[in-house]
Amino acid sequence: MKLVRQLLTLIHLRKLSFLSVTVGIICYGPIVSADKDIFVKDYDLFLGSAPSSNEVRQFELTATSTELVIGNGKATNVWAYNGQIPGPVLRVKQGEMISISFKNELPQATTIHWHGVRVPNDMDGVPGVTQKPVAPGETFQYRFKALDSGTYWFHPHMRSHEQVERGLYGVLIVESPTDPVYDQEWVWVLDDWLLDEDGAIDESFSKRALDTGGRLGNLLSVNGKEQPAYTARSGERVRIRIINSSNARNYSLSFKGSDAKIFAVDGNITGQPLDVDNFVIAPGNRIDIDLTISNNLNASELVEVSNTFFHREAEDDVHEGPAILATIRISGKADDLKKFPIPVHSRIPSWEGALETPVDFTYHFDTKINLGVLWNSGPGAYFEINGKQYGEHEVTQLKKHEFYHLRFTNGTGLYHPIHIHGMFYKVLSRDGVEVNEPFYRDTALLDYDSSIEVGVVPVDTGKWMLHCHLLEHSALGMMTLVEVTE
Ligand code: C2O
Ligand code: CU
Repeated sequence: MKLVRQLLTLIHLRKLSFLSVTVGIICYGPIVSADKDIFVKDYDLFLGSAPSSNEVRQFELTATSTELVIGNGKATNVWAYNGQIPGPVLRVKQGEMISISFKNELPQATTIHWHGVRVPNDMDGVPGVTQKPVAPGETFQYRFKALDSGTYWFHPHMRSHEQVERGLYGVLIVESPTDPVYDQEWVWVLDDWLLDEDGAIDESFSKRALDTGGRLGNLLSVNGKEQPAYTARSGERVRIRIINSSNARNYSLSFKGSDAKIFAVDGNITGQPLDVDNFVIAPGNRIDIDLTISNNLNASELVEVSNTFFHREAEDDVHEGPAILATIRISGKADDLKKFPIPVHSRIPSWEGALETPVDFTYHFDTKINLGVLWNSGPGAYFEINGKQYGEHEVTQLKKHEFYHLRFTNGTGLYHPIHIHGMFYKVLSRDGVEVNEPFYRDTALLDYDSSIEVGVVPVDTGKWMLHCHLLEHSALGMMTLVEVTE
């Protein structure tokens, strides 16, 4: 009996390997694993290495509850880092050590997650995985090297749907020695607020009240202000670092009457400048824009910066879009025109054939109705990955310095911005159609009833979150873990 089974297994295995060899020759050639080794080498070249530095940059961050005016309304109760929204911009040079003394003065436990930043795993700010929650009154020391230059942000990773929404977020800028010098640099944190008639934050953060499309606000803000006005001279070059800190809102930007190009996504310089108009900035995403203010504009003319993204699921009095986010008033003419080329990364691997490699892991994003809502106080639906909520999954095992082909599918008519901690990935296809995004990112939008495939080479060991960055969805379970080992 045993022998027969062994024999059957053997035949079965042979058949399989014969099959895969055949498929290999037909579809992608027999050298897939060699290709993957090249993908890994290419990725290492892309990452490069940080200049060495002995500098340690010290910062202090305190999370407190305070009163601030959001938009143009009245003061409301917010939660903020160092009493300001957004929190402070932490600016360091690539290669420097960053040391942050954090104090929690909130009524809730919290942590800080450094979104998009490659930190040692125990600095990643994920409660119960990389650290203990920081209880009210407690402190925590974050310390890591700024390995990659670019625009990053930080936010709590506990009850984020409430803590981020109340105003807890800040920006981390890592400067590169090769950054060009612009006439001006602006940092814009985009957020939408759900305020009631007298300007106070809507306090319904309970899981029961979580809306399936996520919390969309009725007031769009840039740095906590409604339609702030900037000034620039015609002909000026401006670098704008844009961060989407909203719980659920996507943005696409238009700069009417001026030339705006994206040159970095999620901190990473792109292989070529990209059009800003159709780029979707999902929750968690950052973009860097090279804006040339048109020479044809005269003093006191306005450049309007609008959000053109239309949220199909918006209801009631929340903003669907489009809307003006900010204005730029022309204050004169620049006397010397900055002529440097838009920054490009010269080592974006093409990863040709990556899409044809076998899919290593599939993550299906879906919801499950909670009938229990009829007799208890739970949410109306659970948000799941592969039919399981956070905590129920087996941790995906990945090896450091290997190439992986991941597939994400969406069983819902809802948006899911997919974020993986501790690594950058490249989108290979959308809805089965190959795309060639000339850049790496840490967050990509999984559209309604759609799918995306990505390639990734993890280089940092530890347990990293993979989750939906629509913060109501992650609160309801749409999170899982991958573990990278040597
Ligand atoms: Cu911006 Cu897991 O988060
Ligand atoms: Cu989601």
